[in-house]
Amino acid sequence: MYVEIAEKAGFCFGVERAIALAEQAAERNGDICTLGELIHNERAVAELERKGVRSVVNVSESKGKPLIIRSHGVSRIVEAEARKHASEVIDATCPFVKKIHNIVAELPEKAKAIILGDNDHPEVIGIMGSAGCTAFACRDFEEIKNLFERGDIAENDTAILVAQTTFDRSRFLEYSRTVGERYGCVKIYDTICDATVKRQDCARELAKRAALMIVVGGRSSSNTRKLADICGEYCETVFVTSADEIPLQILNGLRSDSLIGITAGASTPAYTIKEVHERMNEEITKINNENEEDFASLLEQDQSFNRLYTGKRVKATVVSVSKKEAVVEVGAKQTGYIVREELTNDPNAEVEDIVKPGDIIDAVVVKVDDSVGTAALSKKRVDAQLGLEKLQAVKESAETIEGTVAQVVKGGVIVIYENTRVFIPASHTGVPRGGKLDDLLKKSVKFKIIEVTNERGGRVVGSIRQANKEVRDAERAKFWESIEVGQKFDGEVRSIESYGVFVDIGPVDGLVHTADLTWNRVGHPKDIVKVGDKISVVVKSFDPEKKRVSLSAKDPDDNPWTKFVSEYQKGDVIKATVVSITEFGAFAQIIPGVDGLIHISQISTERVASIASVLTVGQEVEVKIIDIDEEKSRVSLSIKALMETEASAEDEE
Ligand code: F3S
Repeated sequence: MYVEIAEKAGFCFGVERAIALAEQAAERNGDICTLGELIHNERAVAELERKGVRSVVNVSESKGKPLIIRSHGVSRIVEAEARKHASEVIDATCPFVKKIHNIVAELPEKAKAIILGDNDHPEVIGIMGSAGCTAFACRDFEEIKNLFERGDIAENDTAILVAQTTFDRSRFLEYSRTVGERYGCVKIYDTICDATVKRQDCARELAKRAALMIVVGGRSSSNTRKLADICGEYCETVFVTSADEIPLQILNGLRSDSLIGITAGASTPAYTIKEVHERMNEEITKINNENEEDFASLLEQDQSFNRLYTGKRVKATVVSVSKKEAVVEVGAKQTGYIVREELTNDPNAEVEDIVKPGDIIDAVVVKVDDSVGTAALSKKRVDAQLGLEKLQAVKESAETIEGTVAQVVKGGVIVIYENTRVFIPASHTGVPRGGKLDDLLKKSVKFKIIEVTNERGGRVVGSIRQANKEVRDAERAKFWESIEVGQKFDGEVRSIESYGVFVDIGPVDGLVHTADLTWNRVGHPKDIVKVGDKISVVVKSFDPEKKRVSLSAKDPDDNPWTKFVSEYQKGDVIKATVVSITEFGAFAQIIPGVDGLIHISQISTERVASIASVLTVGQEVEVKIIDIDEEKSRVSLSIKALMETEASAEDEE
């Protein structure tokens, strides 16, 4: 007898990701909540609770604690509610589900969205609540047809059709074909996730060859029950939630060359699958010993059924690790080993950072050497394929991910994400042209996936620049939402023009006109600031549509007008310095920042033909303040008034 685990079994990518996010958050915060149970598996839920991940029914129960949105996703209203109550909302919505949210959210208000799926399912409820228009959940084509017959959707409406990610693909194809033929206005999106289908196909393939199938998973998990139904069509099948539930007596009725298959639902943790696998192996060894077969002959027998060949995908159990390699057991007579270079793409990672004894990993046979009884395997090649699938999903959902820069190569850098190499071209690194890419080495960076191809073993291209742009765009949007006249910023002079200076105030640059730079007269802005200077500014006005902000660098506390009105009054005779001459008069500085106008008619008791013949710039004159216009901050001065006073005094004498 020998045991084989279905090629795809256990956690799907979305559930694995949600659990990883929950565990990381619990590690950071100690106590966190999930809106509903993260997975349909009692033991996994209990294990999460032990780590501080508690499930709640209402968002209000998460008050003050971080809250995880599980892989099914939620509606916009629930998310907004969650943000009100929870200290932090961690969105673990599966990227495949998020993609559907994005499709329906971008629809115009008058459009119609049809969601093929079960209207009670949390995923469908979340999609309906994310739509920017009216949305309908339909289980089959009849229900779609009713929408048109009732007039809920007209034939000239803008309409789309999406499907719940776990919707049966053959039914989806049938319905979408008919919808396409009858209702040309409906744009169809294939949003079904293949994870469930692939697990079912692998279980079916194994069940066809097996004498007994053990299906592992939670009792309430519908996808695990479906796997049991499929396997039951081909061989004897038992459904267990853990290794303890395996009815071991069932093995007594099997032939000595029987294959026992193991599969597991999308919510079954790897450790449960491993325990079932180990229990079965133990029991088989015991039975074989009881039958007085020695271990060598068992291996010999096993070899005939589990023959290794180059390219075969296997489940390998790590037996030991050293600096150079991991030794693995693959249920064959050969001893398996994976050298460090075949374990990971990361040149900086150590073997013990990647695997530890007892781990069950997916690997592919690279070379079998029967003369020494060894088989060389590769983990990284399997990971690369899985990584490509994950990164394709990441690309489609436009999610931002994080990885460590492992290498600088010609034309860019390599980031390792989940053991997959992602090439980031130099122009997408965010490092300015001519800058040093080496500065990024071993740094954690956030990036987006912009290309995934399967050619030549797979190529993934990422962009740090696009992720940065998204952050900047979000900051800008927030800036325009919150900006107010009078708001203060500490900025930095970015450029200087003849009419003013542009100041970096964070997400945008604002303009300080020359007249708003200082209370004093300014010739050219470069006379008082230089690029890189830090200055405090206040918002004078802004235009979100034209994306313009007008700033002032004048400190209201230093306003010379305030000083002037507190110290001077109408009738005062003062000394002032002529600072400019115009056709209609001369301006004279009373104090720095406050000039008064000596109108041409106020220069002398005589008629003045040319002001320049009477006054010169820089000349100090005695003047009388004859008017102060506080509203317009203007001062009128007169020399003539003093002359008249003098003349009348002389007359009196
Ligand atoms: Fe799993 Fe996401 Fe597919 S949660 S089943 S990978 S849609």
